[in-house]
Amino acid sequence: MSVESLVRRVVADHRDQRGALLPVLHAVQAELGHVPQEAIPVLADELNLSRADIHGVVTFYHDFRREPAGRTTVRICRAEACQALGADRLVSYVRESGLTLGETSPDGSVTVEQVFCLGNCALGPAVEADGRLYGRVDPIRMVSILSGTPN
Ligand code: FES
Repeated sequence: MSVESLVRRVVADHRDQRGALLPVLHAVQAELGHVPQEAIPVLADELNLSRADIHGVVTFYHDFRREPAGRTTVRICRAEACQALGADRLVSYVRESGLTLGETSPDGSVTVEQVFCLGNCALGPAVEADGRLYGRVDPIRMVSILSGTPN
């Protein structure tokens, strides 16, 4: 199914919903893993909004991806409690490894993102990898999490 067909179907599923844009964007991302650029004009047409409106929403909310994620998605908590417990060391390690927060590694193996509280504050620094939560993560453990072999 083409992106255009998928987007039109998703919009049709949400057409009667008030403020349909956010649910539609979430549904598109759930199906494609991201909101591709070619979806924006279709969404604008279907929802009678400008392309700038759609683009503004997609870029404002960090939950929406404009590119496909890597095979593993790692999220590092950078909120206060985790910062006090060493989250910045993890971020430094990630950068020293050649990775950039918010981006996918060149080989597509991992996407690293920052978040602000994973609800695991007492066990910080907290990291989530593919939906699994890890506490008291140090740089050594971060190596295994980034390589997809956490223990
Ligand atoms: Fe990091 Fe809450 S501050 S999990």
